[in-house]
Amino acid sequence: VNLKPYNSFGLPALAARLVRIRSEADVRRVVDHPELGRSPKFVLGGGSNIVLTRDVTAVVLKMEIPGLRLLEEREDAWIIEAGAGVLWHEAVQWAIEQGYPGLENLALIPGTVGAAPVQNIGAYGVELKDRLDSVQVIDLVTGRPALLPASVCRFGYRDSVFKQSGFGGLAGKSVITKVRLRCLKPWQPVLGYLDLERKMHESGISAPTAAQIFAWVCEIRRAKLPDPARIGNAGSFFKNPVVSAEQCRDIIGRDPHIVHYPMADGSVKLAAGWLIDACGWKGKSVGGAGVYEKQALVLVNRGEARGAEVVTLARAIQESVYGRFGIRLEPEPIVL
Ligand code: EPU
Repeated sequence: VNLKPYNSFGLPALAARLVRIRSEADVRRVVDHPELGRSPKFVLGGGSNIVLTRDVTAVVLKMEIPGLRLLEEREDAWIIEAGAGVLWHEAVQWAIEQGYPGLENLALIPGTVGAAPVQNIGAYGVELKDRLDSVQVIDLVTGRPALLPASVCRFGYRDSVFKQSGFGGLAGKSVITKVRLRCLKPWQPVLGYLDLERKMHESGISAPTAAQIFAWVCEIRRAKLPDPARIGNAGSFFKNPVVSAEQCRDIIGRDPHIVHYPMADGSVKLAAGWLIDACGWKGKSVGGAGVYEKQALVLVNRGEARGAEVVTLARAIQESVYGRFGIRLEPEPIVL
């Protein structure tokens, strides 16, 4: 099977075996299968956070579990449950339409519901971990199901236990089948992000509804991020690096315009997009791989890119940012 249609970057790679998973019973059938059960597994959601640089020898589990429903109404939240295969944006849109607010800042993030906890997706001041109740998983060795509360998922900035392979990490060991999300009651908007403040200012709306914020986030993203259906990409290609206050003062001394956000613990987060832009990469290409014209943090497929070209471009960017700022950029998607 060619995985090209199954990854948002549109990179070619062959998988020896791909199994479509439409239910929890399908996962157990794979685990119990005499041959598939013993093979290494690679869990694939929307393929929007992977860079394929080689063929995949593991059995690909393509997650297509459907379902979207209100599970429970609590005093402080509506708990909605979504199957791992539901598109993340569809779940957000459904919740907003039903009148369950809280996910609006996370509108239009590509990928599936099951992939959302893996990298703790986040945008405009909200992260998945802030809205997650629990995650239903199945152990890929024993076939045993477990409901993991958000508190045990070891969430960090674009990180979780599902991405970790060290001690206690679940990468390749469990598969997420369903996700329970917390919609807020009472609801409080999260509006601190500059792009959203600009929307409020321009529209004159000072107390937007969740549906209004949803619409604004969609507009903001459509204006600066490429639609993976038209231009292959995997969202931000690097994480925003965090440096010490001292290191930041040093850099500001040399580059006064650097975009930076002070963090609660005294460290400072730098805008990787700005660093890459400052090194002159916007619009540049290596073979079929390029740096998006409107957001330097996003690498794109200009047509027939191969994974190796994306990696070559990423390395060149890392080297030039390191050379100028002394900062090592870390890739955000999983590079296979
Ligand atoms: N900037 C530049 N030049 C560029 C790109 C950005 O100067 O080419 C500057 C912008 O002017 C802005 C700052 O850098 O002041 C930050 O840019 P932006 O607001 O676009 O956000 P970001 O830090 O680049 C992060 C997330 C996005 C998320 C947005 C909004 C990461 C790695 N990325 O991007 O998440 O949508 O904030 O919250 O944290 C993703 O993870 O795939 C993703 C798209």
